[in-house]
This record gives sequence, C-alpha cells and structure tokens, in this order.
Amino acid sequence: MKAVSCRDLAWKYSGRKRFAIENINLDIEENTFVSIVGPNEHGKTTLVSCIKGLIPASYHGVWHGQVDIFGQDNRHMSGQRLASEVGFVFADPESQFTSMTVEEELVFGLENIGLSFQEVTDRLAWVSEITNIRNLWDKSPYEISGGQKQRVAIASVLAMKPRIIILDEPTSMLDPIGKDSIFDIMTNIKRETNMTIIVVEHNIEQVAPLSDMMILMYEGQVARISPPEEFFANSDFLIDHGILPPQATAFIDRVKQDGLYDGPLPVDYEGGVKVTRAILQQHAA
Ligand SMILES: Nc1ncnc2c1ncn2[C@@H]1O[C@H](COP(=O)(O)OP(=O)(O)O)[C@@H](O)[C@H]1O
Ligand SMILES: [Mg+2]
Repeated sequence: MKAVSCRDLAWKYSGRKRFAIENINLDIEENTFVSIVGPNEHGKTTLVSCIKGLIPASYHGVWHGQVDIFGQDNRHMSGQRLASEVGFVFADPESQFTSMTVEEELVFGLENIGLSFQEVTDRLAWVSEITNIRNLWDKSPYEISGGQKQRVAIASVLAMKPRIIILDEPTSMLDPIGKDSIFDIMTNIKRETNMTIIVVEHNIEQVAPLSDMMILMYEGQVARISPPEEFFANSDFLIDHGILPPQATAFIDRVKQDGLYDGPLPVDYEGGVKVTRAILQQHAA
C-alpha cells in the first residue's frame, strides 16, 4: 500500500492569483526515504502541508484533488487519527516546544495519548538513543544549542511513532555541526524504523545518498521524480531548475557525456570513487 498518494492535487492560497501547487500526482511507498528539493517559494512547504492535512484544515484557499494516507482520503480522517499517522517537524524547533525540560517535552505528548508508564519509559529510552539526547533530559529545551533543539523536536515527534514523518527544512537554521547531527539522526530513523520519511532539504550532497526517491518541485509542479541515481541525469536541466548535483555525480556525468562510462551515476563521494576505479581498470585492460 502507498503511504501517500496525491491525485491531481492543487492549492491556491486565498488572495493569491496563482496556484501555489498544481497537477501534483505522486505516490510515496511505505518505508521509504523521500527528499523534496527545489528553490524557495516553489511549493515544497505547501505540498507537505497538504500531506499533513494542515492544508486545507487551517488555511483559506482553493483546493483540487485528493491526498490519500495509507489509502484513506486525509480530509475524511479525524484530526487525532491524522496526527497519529503523520508527524511533522518544522524548520524552527522552538515553535514546537511547550515544556520546561526536555524530558517533560518528550513525555507530554505520550501521556496525552494515554500510554502506560512502562510504554512511556520505553519510548523515552528508544527516542533518546536514536536522537542522541539522553544527556539533555534535565535541560531546558530553550537553553541548548540549535542542533540539540532540533534533535529534541525530532525526538518528540518520533516518540509518537507516526507511520509517516515529515521534516520541512530541519537543518536550515543550523550550523554545519548541527546539520551533520540531523543527517545522522535521519540515517538512524531510516535504518531502525519502518517509518516513511519525507524531508524537504537544500543540502543535496547530504540528502541524496539517503534518498530512495527524490522530488524536484518547480513553480508549484513536480518537475522530476526519480531515484537519486536517475534524478541527477542531465545536470543542465537541474542547474536550470536551481539544483546543484553532488560533485561526484556532476563529475561522473561529464565523463559519461564524453562517452567513457555508461552505468548509473553515483550520488556520493564513495560511489564516485568506485565508478572512477571501474573506469580506470576498464581502460587499463
Ligand atoms: N500562507 C500563505 N499565504 C499566501 N501565500 C503563501 C502562503 N504560504 C506560501 N505562499 C506562497 O505559495 C508559494 C509556494 O510557497 P511555499 O510552499 O512556502 O514554497 P517553498 O516551501 O518551496 O519555499 C509561494 O509563492 C508563496 O509565496
Ligand atoms: Mg518551505
């Protein structure tokens, strides 16, 4: 079953002339990692807000089409059900906080859904491990570093065990070390859970190797959707659409255009080294 399925989806914010997104048809498989990329103001947040059901529930505007979450129209799901299926992490982690300590922040949502003490304890330990925040439980969520704040925000969403977790530019407000820690956590979530992960991200180099599928949003439409190995083919098209392929990918793509290589494109440094070795060996033989 598809985790998310958008059919002829379009949305226009009231007061706007143009649709923010339109003609959106896409399927997201269960237990996959999907990245959404594209320049600013091209509809990424609008798209994930429709998947989460924030649009149309909390906005005025014009809606077309349908979003199904595990086969069910999300506009017909109760708020509680939708909240339990789809978690959402914002770029600004503080916007999510309500408690005075990290531990309370994590426990708050769990107690609200009526979990037993044992289950709360287990989940607390589990998310703290995945997001590496065990040493922060006693701290105020407002007085830790940006990267730590974002890890706590992710932990509190993860603790609810949604089947789908959406992260909208989770690293955009962080310094390089903070960014790296979030990519480590996304790697952990991918490895250790069956959650479907949808992340809006500008760091192509880091997000491409994690992705099973990449979606390019441009002028409110899906300009390209494919696995990373195919996504970066024809890099001129991507550059015209505001996307810089990973350096290893761009490098091998050039070699490919020169006719020296005919296989799939690598999406990270290690992959680039592997392909380069194979090319050199083939030409030495
Ligand atoms: N709350 C809103 N009200 C009116 N227009 C909006 C609102 N949010 C976004 N838009 C417009 O919708 C378009 C897509 O924006 P958005 O989905 O936020 O893009 P992205 O996340 O790719 O930066 C832009 O033209 C933006 O100005
Ligand atoms: Mg956005």
